[in-house]
Amino acid sequence: MEQEIRQINFAFMGFGHVGRAFARLLINRRNWLLKEYGVEWKITGIATKSHGTCIDHAGLPIRKILGSWKRHSNLENFHNGPVCASHTDFIRQCGADVLFEMSVLDLSGQPAATYIREALGAGLNVITTNKGPISTHFRALTKLARLRDVELLYEGTVMDGAPVFNMVRQNLPATRIRSLRGILNSTTNYILTQMEQGTPFESALEYAKNAGLTEADPRLDLDGWDAAAKLSVLIQALMGATVKPKDIERSSISEETGKIVRAAVRRDRRLRAVARAYRQGGRVIGKVELQELEIFDPLAAIRGLSNILIINTDTVRELAIVENNPSVDQTAFALFADLVSLLE
Ligand SMILES: NC(=O)c1ccc[n+]([C@@H]2O[C@H](COP(=O)([O-])OP(=O)(O)OC[C@H]3O[C@@H](n4cnc5c(N)ncnc54)[C@H](OP(=O)(O)O)[C@@H]3O)[C@@H](O)[C@H]2O)c1
Repeated sequence: MEQEIRQINFAFMGFGHVGRAFARLLINRRNWLLKEYGVEWKITGIATKSHGTCIDHAGLPIRKILGSWKRHSNLENFHNGPVCASHTDFIRQCGADVLFEMSVLDLSGQPAATYIREALGAGLNVITTNKGPISTHFRALTKLARLRDVELLYEGTVMDGAPVFNMVRQNLPATRIRSLRGILNSTTNYILTQMEQGTPFESALEYAKNAGLTEADPRLDLDGWDAAAKLSVLIQALMGATVKPKDIERSSISEETGKIVRAAVRRDRRLRAVARAYRQGGRVIGKVELQELEIFDPLAAIRGLSNILIINTDTVRELAIVENNPSVDQTAFALFADLVSLLE
């Protein structure tokens, strides 16, 4: 029997490193989506902050947009649709079934939380890599998605493409997570492990910036906010407590941290920015702190841009997920994995 073809329309909020990598991945997996799920897709809208906005209900020429991005990174030339007065207006007019929210991290969660609320309210499914709105508005947004009978998926908010939320949801039924600990921020781990080898703080930070791995504002990485936002999403989604990034104790890293790093190495120990959450009474406590670890601690072995998460459960006991040297392509894959779970 012939498979019925489903047409799905996508809109992108944000077309930076992640948005462009995801567009490339979608193009590369076009035949796979058609063969496995009978899905034909088109991108009907892309919105950015300073590179313009475009809508075309017939489908934007995404290969052409990507091809010309370095030369003419202005989306207005591709606009062939209704005039949009604002980004929320864009969401209402873009004609999409799924909004991919990939705008920048802001600690307030705004304006991304407003975009997500608008999209869910209008009956669009939302898939995001943006931990800002998910950490600060978790309950309200997940409740709204349930009320509107649409999906809000956020695998890429923590550990890029490594399956965390999808793995727990699909493979750990009836499991209580007692505690968790890990290394969740690539930039600080890269800088700490480079400083172990004598690389100056500034050069290590510069490399991470040039590789597109830091947040638009690198202080969000260095002051532990990025890790705190990820930890907050983990606590809310996996441990059922409302702990927001501002409730999480944090430590920062700077040029000065280099001395502590090298002193730890001389004692055959390793300094790591450890994110952890544990239950205490009826509460969950979250912390992001610099810890000197024994060399045989699995977190001490995590070097460079790599991440790790160890969850302690009442079913499979301890389970570790390691992500080796992620790039933006892994983040794009998280969006793709969420899309596929939406199609199932
Ligand atoms: N890079 C990674 O590997 C990675 C990994 C995990 C999660 N994330 C998350 O994914 C998101 C995107 O990351 P990225 O690396 O692609 O960032 P990016 O390269 O800085 O791109 C951000 C995009 O968002 C747009 N934008 C900024 N402010 C906006 C606003 N107020 N309204 C609408 N659009 C706005 C920007 O517009 P302009 O083009 O005009 O500047 C740009 O297109 C962030 O939330 C980040 O935390 C990134």
